[in-house]
Amino acid sequence: MIETIGIIGAGTMGNGIAQICAAAGLQVTMIDISEAAVAKGMATVTGSLERLVNKQKMTDADRQAALARINATTDNSKLTNCDLVIEAATEREDLKIKILKDLCATLNPRAIVATNTSSIPITKLAASTDRPDRFIGMHFFNPVPLMKLVEVIRTITTSKETEERALDFVRWLDKEPIRAKDSSGFVVNLLLIPYMVDAIRALESNVASIEDIDKGMQLGAGHPMGPFTLLDFVGLDTVYKIAEIMFEEYRDSRYAPPPLLKRMVLAGMLGRKSGKGFYDYSTTPPRVSALGL
Ligand SMILES: NC(=O)c1ccc[n+]([C@@H]2O[C@H](COP(=O)([O-])OP(=O)(O)OC[C@H]3O[C@@H](n4cnc5c(N)ncnc54)[C@H](O)[C@@H]3O)[C@@H](O)[C@H]2O)c1
Repeated sequence: MIETIGIIGAGTMGNGIAQICAAAGLQVTMIDISEAAVAKGMATVTGSLERLVNKQKMTDADRQAALARINATTDNSKLTNCDLVIEAATEREDLKIKILKDLCATLNPRAIVATNTSSIPITKLAASTDRPDRFIGMHFFNPVPLMKLVEVIRTITTSKETEERALDFVRWLDKEPIRAKDSSGFVVNLLLIPYMVDAIRALESNVASIEDIDKGMQLGAGHPMGPFTLLDFVGLDTVYKIAEIMFEEYRDSRYAPPPLLKRMVLAGMLGRKSGKGFYDYSTTPPRVSALGL
């Protein structure tokens, strides 16, 4: 039975996971490296819960109770007694390996450890711990409180029991799990990255404009947003990094990041997060960026 949960990283994903776990009734310890990062994570959770109350999707008493269940701190020793720890720190392999080694040195030996990594081989992270049988991937989607899916990723060393417990936990959080093995991209990015990369290639070869490619996939394929709107939402640097890692793993040109994507990342055009990507977000509604094509 999972009653206490630790979340490492109070960023975009970590604070979202902390929020849904606390709202579901778990005691949550959310860790980050600085007081500022912890405070920022808590401010996001507070704002998000307030919006749920304003939309009458949560009572004020439940909001207060959820907030009271989160202990946000820089003190890693507070994780020792957790039943499950989800690592959601910055996407850097050396950093994650250090975090996991330090964590396992003091963590309750029965606890399960999960990682939310999008692109680092989970088997490699598992091998850096003292519990490869109790280590698993739990890949949440952004924004965590809204997105229903969690990919549960087993490695060749994950025990059946750990996988079952992780699947049950995800269902208990009222999310929908899908099972995947530890291969780069899991399910969603395996299919989504070539699609986004192909849209950029279509633009590079002047098949159609940004707006018309977006409109085509919205109205012709029933997608809620076109590929360029999606690229800007995910972040061009993130897509670039994942595409590179997938290309390295499969050596298949379908995953190779196109030159335009690389140039846009080099130019700091990262999408919504930097204010400009395929669209320019300085105006409402956003307008198409001039890319000199
Ligand atoms: N952003 C997404 O859309 C998304 C989706 C699915 C999975 N992921 C994965 O989730 C993880 C986190 O991504 P994010 O978007 O939340 O990143 P983020 O940059 O928003 O947050 C990462 C947080 O980790 C903290 N951190 C760094 N070192 C730490 C340490 N030693 N101990 C504790 N905290 C530390 C940082 O200070 C930061 O607050 C990554 O592995 C990423 O691949 C991201």
